[in-house]
Amino acid sequence: MSNITNINDESILKQIERNLMDFSSDVKVQNVGKVEKNTDGVITSTGLTQAGIGEEVEFENGVMGMILGLDEDYASIIVLGEGNSISEGSTVKRTGRILSINVHDSILGRVINPIGLPLDGKPEIKKGTAMPLEKLAAGVIERESVDTPLKTGIKAIDSMIPIGRGQRELIIGDRGLGKTAIAIDTIINQKHHAKDQKPVICIYVAIGQKQSTVAQVINVLKENDALPYSIVIAASASEPVALQYLAPFAGVAIAEYFCAQGRDVLIVYDDLTKHAWAYRQLSLVLRRPAGREAYPGDIFYLHSRLLERAVKLSKKNGGGSITALPIIETQAGDISAYIPTNVISITDGQIFVESDLFNNGIRPAINAGYSVSRVGGAAQTSAMKSVIGMLRIAQAQYRELAAFAQFGSELDADTRSQLEKGKRTVEVLKQAQYHPLSEPLQIMSIWAVTHGYTDDIPAEDVLRFEHDYIEYLQRKGKKLLDELATGKKPSKETQELMQNVTEDFKKTFSA
Ligand SMILES: Nc1ncnc2c1ncn2[C@@H]1O[C@H](COP(=O)(O)OP(=O)(O)O)[C@@H](O)[C@H]1O
Ligand SMILES: [Mg+2]
Repeated sequence: MSNITNINDESILKQIERNLMDFSSDVKVQNVGKVEKNTDGVITSTGLTQAGIGEEVEFENGVMGMILGLDEDYASIIVLGEGNSISEGSTVKRTGRILSINVHDSILGRVINPIGLPLDGKPEIKKGTAMPLEKLAAGVIERESVDTPLKTGIKAIDSMIPIGRGQRELIIGDRGLGKTAIAIDTIINQKHHAKDQKPVICIYVAIGQKQSTVAQVINVLKENDALPYSIVIAASASEPVALQYLAPFAGVAIAEYFCAQGRDVLIVYDDLTKHAWAYRQLSLVLRRPAGREAYPGDIFYLHSRLLERAVKLSKKNGGGSITALPIIETQAGDISAYIPTNVISITDGQIFVESDLFNNGIRPAINAGYSVSRVGGAAQTSAMKSVIGMLRIAQAQYRELAAFAQFGSELDADTRSQLEKGKRTVEVLKQAQYHPLSEPLQIMSIWAVTHGYTDDIPAEDVLRFEHDYIEYLQRKGKKLLDELATGKKPSKETQELMQNVTEDFKKTFSA
């Protein structure tokens, strides 16, 4: 048997395009092949000369598969079921359909695997629309620029690294530093939406994780009333790599179903490092030529065609959006490894979490200096923009001065006060897990600290100050919070109100 040759990117694109055309024109397909080899559930067959990449095929025993690669003589197929049930010499036939997942509105709140089977013990998903796992991303003409914030509820992100709807923002860092926590808090925060709007639909794709970890995430979503507007797609580490490979594509296919209805969708890929492993494993089984770090040469293309499907559709096309939060796990903070650099280059920015910060109790452990959002600023409200200027300056000065001050040199009063202010802004950006904050409350917290209202209290009391302040605002500052919720730049009167409420609160607070 000859090796399956490496398929270049362009040929895959052409194939997919041809498939889509073929299938829509309802051509009669019948093309039967023979299973030559079964290597750990990855099949090599002869005879499927007319098939296309991404096409669904059916084995003799009724088990389904999907064409992963083609060359002149052989097709490689991943099995969508019991891999070892396919015997060599048995037949396999084309279906003429691109592999798709059944999506129905009632899929909200469900937990499924990448081929749409329920994992939550509830009945099958009702028959709805077949959404293709492989699809060409929307073109420029159908798109519109990103202009609406996707609020995470996390102060450090919404203020300094704002994310817009339709954007791809990478969450990157070592294991155990709160990457999943950021994504889950963002999902929980979607519960807080304007009364006249529907919540952003959230899709959490778990790839190659331990089953218990996924179960925990589902529980958290349930406990926080976030499951009704969410969908979880899981292919855990114990599942075949074929399913792990398909999981993100199943996720984005579901996202496209809701996006086509004009809805805003958020999709989390947790994580693409493990997705890359799954693809590498598949490719090794198929003996495709391996490149850097033994990944197949088209791994970059795999992730770019996935992330390209994040979109903000124009009004004419319904105005829906898909915001993607891919997650990448690094080793020892090394973002220059192959997969991290790939994904960094195909996203619109990254949120970088760091062990030094995490271990020093700065959580979320976001390194604001290395993190960036290339489009989100355009989507930030004027209300938020009005407070972040001073925050940015205070943080940047603090980073510089703190390094300098370590040497214990004599500091003048001015420098010392800048350091103290900086220290307090670091404190106010700390945030407990599962406590996303509405934008008006974020604005008030940041405003109070940057405007000196905490200068006279010890830095270690800033979080307690914030906690009590928020409670006070929720009780006595309703009018002010409503005004800030409009997103408009605070007027003179609003600013006066901010001062008055804060001064009143300070009388009740003792450090
Ligand atoms: N903002 C936070 N405050 C306190 N603890 C946090 C915070 N974010 C995450 N953690 C804790 O840190 C640990 C690792 O978080 P997790 O999101 O699972 O990391 P990762 O996905 O990067 O591996 C968990 O125990 C989690 O509860
Ligand atoms: Mg995680």
